[in-house]
Amino acid sequence: GRPIKVAILGFGTVGSSVARVLAAGKYPGLRLTHIYNRDVERKRLSTAARYVPADAIWTENINDVLTSKVDIIVELMGGLKPTEAWIRAALTLGKSVVTANKQLIAYRGASLLRLAKAHSVQLIHGAAVAGGVPVIPGLLHGQSADHITRIRGILNGTCNYMLTRMEAGAGYAEVLSDAQALGYAEADPSADVDGFDARAKLCILSRIALQAELDPDQVPAQTISTIEKIDFMYAKELGCTIRQVSTAQLDSTRAGAMVQARVGPMLIPHTSPMAWSHGTQNMVVASGRFGGDVVFSGRGAGGEPTAVAVVSDLLAIAQGGVSVELPVHRRRVTGDFISPHYLRF
Ligand code: NDP
Ligand code: HSE
Repeated sequence: GRPIKVAILGFGTVGSSVARVLAAGKYPGLRLTHIYNRDVERKRLSTAARYVPADAIWTENINDVLTSKVDIIVELMGGLKPTEAWIRAALTLGKSVVTANKQLIAYRGASLLRLAKAHSVQLIHGAAVAGGVPVIPGLLHGQSADHITRIRGILNGTCNYMLTRMEAGAGYAEVLSDAQALGYAEADPSADVDGFDARAKLCILSRIALQAELDPDQVPAQTISTIEKIDFMYAKELGCTIRQVSTAQLDSTRAGAMVQARVGPMLIPHTSPMAWSHGTQNMVVASGRFGGDVVFSGRGAGGEPTAVAVVSDLLAIAQGGVSVELPVHRRRVTGDFISPHYLRF
């Protein structure tokens, strides 16, 4: 058949890596035809531009993309504005969308997924949680028959990278600026260190795994910015290290079924696999009633691992990608009952 035309919105860390993975040429059916970015000339002159086909159109006018014959739009700009309006426009025009935007999918995913369905197109967001680790496809396709009661893990690569290096003696400001330079951190890195990035991811996983629609603003998030060298010394005396951990657990013992959820630094015993997650490595443990614990682990941040997830989503759409759809219920969040101090796994 004819090649599937792909546009990238946002030619930054992930967008340029997607161009690179596509240029590596394993996917003859996908053709990169448009790059949208503000101030686009700067991007066209960047070294990453060599991965973009010579006949692709570079534009700073979104209508050039929306009114074109592009089949799939890949949104890699981040944020809710103007991305939500543009993705709505794309879906309404019959274009499928792939995005790595966790804030958008956590806050607006339910309604955007309905819109995609109404227009018989796809909205896929496998890169929005845990970068290159196929947690979302694993939960959607491999574990959908289980009754998952708890999701727990390390969902932010920046924090994990920072805490790992601080444990080895580096200072907070230095490791934060390294995480930014390496392309791991969000545009505003307080999203990483204050836990807002991880809680958006936790809410996305809750929707998929627990069938619980949560309001991200209700999930307690505690910053890692108060962690100091001395905390690692005390942790060590207890046989522990410190990691930013996210946890969401169904609490069906109470009427109205709530979800216990929180994000923040925790003491992790050195014997726990979570303590062995170094650098940008994310780890998600999905605990099911029938299948027990399933562990997903790998690089959770960085351009190339994330681009693999994005291009895999493109391939899924190109090949007619069907996903399992289960009913989702709105749930209230409580941060109670989860010890902020110590984790057994
Ligand atoms: P970058 O900041 O590197 O790239 C974003 C790109 O989009 C930049 O080129 C930026 O232009 C452009 N852009 C942003 N806002 C606008 C706008 N309003 N109009 C036009 N262009 C715009 O971010 P990342 O590539 O790191 O992240 C992209 C998305 O992927 C985010 O949603 C992020 O959360 C997500 N993500 C990132 C991962 C990572 O490891 N980096 C991993 C998983 C997901 P300019 O250069 O002018 O700022
Ligand atoms: N800033 C995010 C992180 C990128 O560090 O995990 C991946 O979602």
